[in-house]
Amino acid sequence: MKALYICDEKEEWEHIRSIFNRFFPRIELICVLNGSDAIDYLSYEGPFFMILMEASLRSEHPSELTKKLLPLTGEKPYIFLGAKVHINDRIDEQLYIRSEMNEIILRPIDTNTLIQKVQKCVDWAKDEEFEKSIEELSKEELLPMKLRGFYLFNKLPYDVFIELTSTKYVKIISANKKYLHSEINAYAKKRIKHLYLRKNEYLQFLEDSIEALMIQYDSIKQSSNKVIANQIKSALVIQQYIRSVGVTENITKLVDRTILSSRNIMLEHKRFKSILKVFPSEKLDIAEQAILTMYLAESMLTVLSWASETSRKKLGLASLVYDSMLEDDELYKIHSLEDPNIEMFTEEQQQSYREHPTKAAEIAANFTGYPEADFIIAQHHEKPKGEGFPNGLTTNKLSAHSCIFILANNFVIRYADKQSTKGATLEIFRDMKAIYNQGNFKDPLIALQKSII
Ligand SMILES: [Fe+2]
Repeated sequence: MKALYICDEKEEWEHIRSIFNRFFPRIELICVLNGSDAIDYLSYEGPFFMILMEASLRSEHPSELTKKLLPLTGEKPYIFLGAKVHINDRIDEQLYIRSEMNEIILRPIDTNTLIQKVQKCVDWAKDEEFEKSIEELSKEELLPMKLRGFYLFNKLPYDVFIELTSTKYVKIISANKKYLHSEINAYAKKRIKHLYLRKNEYLQFLEDSIEALMIQYDSIKQSSNKVIANQIKSALVIQQYIRSVGVTENITKLVDRTILSSRNIMLEHKRFKSILKVFPSEKLDIAEQAILTMYLAESMLTVLSWASETSRKKLGLASLVYDSMLEDDELYKIHSLEDPNIEMFTEEQQQSYREHPTKAAEIAANFTGYPEADFIIAQHHEKPKGEGFPNGLTTNKLSAHSCIFILANNFVIRYADKQSTKGATLEIFRDMKAIYNQGNFKDPLIALQKSII
């Protein structure tokens, strides 16, 4: 169990720490000097079951800081410590009385009072913990959902679990109770990739996600960053939905909207290189690569003056779907059948990699209003001289749209690996030119150059 103490007097850290060490040896007390350290710890090192806030804090106002921290801590007990005058003047009464779990401890601190009040918080946390009890569930009852999807909500009408073993799961989100995005961050940090939902609630989660994303699209009109963030979340939901459910009217609406909403961003930024500057490109996972590919393909269409509604739609759908049928999350990092890293995967996973362009194309063919997107997807791993897969097609057998898509996707994949290198864009373009400057790739290659440089 972790508790957080915010105080800018280091001698006080020692005093409180010694009491905790003696009476609560199983509690890890993290002491921080200021609000920004507190925010860092709450965001990435949580969960904390209790917050101790010093009322005499000099660098910032303790009430203002508490208000800032509440969205990160949720309904956790706060203990405000300080001399009577500081408590009266600097701790907003509303903050203290908002929860019966909150406490005030006056200085000079009476050790017994502190122990008693901390113990009350410990008991509360244990009750909460009880709700997160281990459940014996069979794997057949649950389905994995990518962790990132849970940032779309802060409350769900069903329970959510993490896997301990293949038969033991811990409930980490209780139905209809608020949860914190910082808790989801903490699982991501522990490299947990999936949370589990009961099978009959899985589809509901995806449908709820579609609804939440559509509402977001309606409410965000201006900011490029917010539109792009919503498109990335949409790509994630679209990929999971078509894998587990298939093509429905609802998912088609989300696909339409995700593609359509790139139009204003393109009008504002004109070229891909300008979009790249505002794109959240820290790690470029599979959903981020999809949206980045969509923008680059669209930018290339514009350069070539081919940006008709149909062209934009077919390349848009191709971008959202091309890698959606990969068996394993990590497989998207494999770029060809010759990649030595493919050996790290099971034979079954390697087989799914060989088949993913064809399988994704079959899914795409079920969308109405997206002609030829399936051909583009089927060909996304083909190469000019016929050394690609699955069909070993040569450049003259590939349509102009396929060539645009292959180049856009190829650039994005290479950029994901090299983005932190200085001059990466130019270097990638030179490498690609050596391979693709032939046949039907020639004009799209010029369009690529004008989009990125
Ligand atoms: Fe692929």
